[in-house]
Amino acid sequence: MKSKIRLGILGGGGDSLIGIVHRIASSMHDSYSIIGGVFNPDYSENLKFAKEIGLDETRVYEDYDKMIEQELKLDESERMQVVSILTPNFLHYPMAKKLLENNFSVICEKPMTTTYKEAQDLEQIYKSKKLTFAVTYTYTGYPMIRQMKEMIREGVIGNVQRVDLQYYQGWINPIIHDSDKRSETWRLQPDKSGISCCIGDIGTHAFDMLEYVTGMEVQELLSDLNYVYDDNPMDVDGTILIRFSDKIKGVIRASQIATGEENCFTVAIYGRKGGLKWQQENPNYLNHLSDSKPLQILKPGHDYNSNFSKISVKLPPGHPEGMFDSMANIYNGVAREIRGEKEFDGEYPTLNDGLRGMLFIEKAVESHNNGNTWVKLN
Ligand SMILES: NC(=O)c1ccc[n+]([C@@H]2O[C@H](COP(=O)([O-])OP(=O)(O)OC[C@H]3O[C@@H](n4cnc5c(N)ncnc54)[C@H](O)[C@@H]3O)[C@@H](O)[C@H]2O)c1
Repeated sequence: MKSKIRLGILGGGGDSLIGIVHRIASSMHDSYSIIGGVFNPDYSENLKFAKEIGLDETRVYEDYDKMIEQELKLDESERMQVVSILTPNFLHYPMAKKLLENNFSVICEKPMTTTYKEAQDLEQIYKSKKLTFAVTYTYTGYPMIRQMKEMIREGVIGNVQRVDLQYYQGWINPIIHDSDKRSETWRLQPDKSGISCCIGDIGTHAFDMLEYVTGMEVQELLSDLNYVYDDNPMDVDGTILIRFSDKIKGVIRASQIATGEENCFTVAIYGRKGGLKWQQENPNYLNHLSDSKPLQILKPGHDYNSNFSKISVKLPPGHPEGMFDSMANIYNGVAREIRGEKEFDGEYPTLNDGLRGMLFIEKAVESHNNGNTWVKLN
């Protein structure tokens, strides 16, 4: 029997949105055992929650400094091997830095840091270590996204000529029009969130997805952001023109004020021979468009799926794969890397994906502030 990977968690307490996704995802392939962590900055809340989920209190710490200090005192065979960082954005960098410096592998929520400079700093430390670092761009774990990536790589749609990614939510709409309510979310506070709200939070998912499925790097962008009110320092909406080259172009549209939208993330990639289109709210359907054949709808778990897509499902066709499964595939990718079993490019998003994400956010804000000018990423 394979021994389980010892996982620590920072953030993601009972009051959080994403904590439960990571806890369930980490258990889905029977690869991890959650050992302890710091789930809340308030120690009594932290302990209360740890008890609720059945953890040994001796491995629940007051803060991440103490956690690292105490874990290092344990024999390597007991020590946490990987730590997931699920806190608000501004804590990702100091936590990840200290973890890497002390030889813990990291699974970090996106955006990886709050500045590109911090991301570069993490890259430098990471390069000097033999550790695993994943950034949880969750949607890259879906079987039909992996199918899309493989089909593009194999040339099924021909050379890419147009890309269109839309990530629309509406949850900030009721908040943004009431200045008192804006302080209720850390996402609208630059000291906690970074220089961008919408582009940093969901635009970055779209950007990563674009580079993930096409296997290409965006070269230039031009952005037009919307802050809605002069006294609001954070974008809540943006349209970003993308150029891979002067012949391959497209758009990323992201909004948190698309009234009534939930998590409407659409990825459409068009090539010379066909197109592929996928929607996060119906993730088991991948549309294959062509101008010579009827629309084909591909689903997960079939013989016709790519091997990478096939390893990303756990049940026979007809059993829907959702966001928990998608995150679980990323955790599984990290586990496979740690065990030396990883075989496909893209089994989990890497530190480089996190770095590119931070570059994208900074360049999108720079382009907007420059009066909507083209800026280079490479
Ligand atoms: N991958 C995705 O699809 C996805 C979705 C949602 C959120 N996120 C990311 O996950 C992160 C957390 O987002 P969220 O929506 O869960 O936030 P949240 O505000 O709902 O939860 C944050 C959690 O961190 C804890 N926390 C705060 N300070 C801490 C500290 N010093 N030490 C330990 N714990 C601390 C809080 O108690 C809380 O449990 C963000 O970076 C966000 O961008 C990613």
